[in-house]
Amino acid sequence: MNEPIILGIESSCDDTSAAIINGNKILSNIAANQTVHQEYGGVVPELASRAHQQNIIPVVEKSFTKANIQQKDISAIGFTRGPGLLGSLLVGTSFAKSLAMSLDVPLIEVNHLQAHILCHFIEDANPMPPKFPFLCLTVSGGHTMIVLVKDYFDMEIIGKTIDDAAGEAFDKIGKIMGLDYPAGPIIDKLAKLGNPDAFTFGKPKLENYDYSFSGIKTSVLYFLQKQLKENPNFIQENVENLCASVQKTIIDVLMKKLEKAAKDYDVKEVAIAGGVSANSGLREAMQNNVEKLGWNVYIPKFEYTTDNAAMIAMVAKLKFERGEFTDLRTSATARYDM
Ligand code: KG4
Ligand code: ZN
Repeated sequence: MNEPIILGIESSCDDTSAAIINGNKILSNIAANQTVHQEYGGVVPELASRAHQQNIIPVVEKSFTKANIQQKDISAIGFTRGPGLLGSLLVGTSFAKSLAMSLDVPLIEVNHLQAHILCHFIEDANPMPPKFPFLCLTVSGGHTMIVLVKDYFDMEIIGKTIDDAAGEAFDKIGKIMGLDYPAGPIIDKLAKLGNPDAFTFGKPKLENYDYSFSGIKTSVLYFLQKQLKENPNFIQENVENLCASVQKTIIDVLMKKLEKAAKDYDVKEVAIAGGVSANSGLREAMQNNVEKLGWNVYIPKFEYTTDNAAMIAMVAKLKFERGEFTDLRTSATARYDM
């Protein structure tokens, strides 16, 4: 049997992306990143939505060209229905609906968070896909949670953040330090040049598997305010050590709960997903647990960490096999339970 060829569309936040998958193999994965938000220090929903409108047609066209696939050859269209920014989701959703109608192919709705997790089943994401049940630390700009993945579409959130997401913590702390948005990748880069033990910041003390990151942000803020009174150049002079110490604090918090969950649930298949899974310190901490704790770890390829349509196409393919289609009355939803 021929494997289906599916177009995936992602527009939940500030990246417009389109990808084509054939079976589990990605033929193209195109993204237009929006730079308009940089000067505001965060995503401005209205601007994001307008930029998606400008980008969506060229991005989809490029995904077909790169894959060397004709529109008439696709079997279905998958799109991110939620969660995310409503104005952004509406652009991808409306576009997917119109194209599905004009090409007369089925439409498949995809949950963005499930897609981050299921990116591990893309053919070249890992040498081997994870085995069920596995734990997935899902860390992005909007979410931070530990998910017990029992099957493709049987996921249980066993812990999550009670305030900021890990990516948000990176971005907000970066903003305090005067770094550009998004600060996560910048902190990662500078951290490589600094001493992670140079400064210590308060860590949350929470029961069970939940996270909290707003306290770390406040701890950094108060520390810097105090230092800046004595030395106005404190940040510039210590930026690498500050980044290394902040990164270490966030990763320690993330890993501690993940290790506790793996132990309590007796699971050794452990994955990470989402934008923060691009972080080199987090990837290294995961890798260390192969030897230390006997884990089999699953770390996505960089292009499948931050928002991308390849992961949307992957989920659409899994739903296509199950005959899970969406009718044209569907609409975007900012909140969408897994
Ligand atoms: O998954 P994603 O692209 O979008 C959401 O669904 O939120 O994640 C974006 C987040 C941002 O907060 C960004 O700062 C963070 O991922 N991020 C990183 C790195 N690359 C992206 N954080 C730390 N280190 C990185 N290398
Ligand atoms: Zn995301």
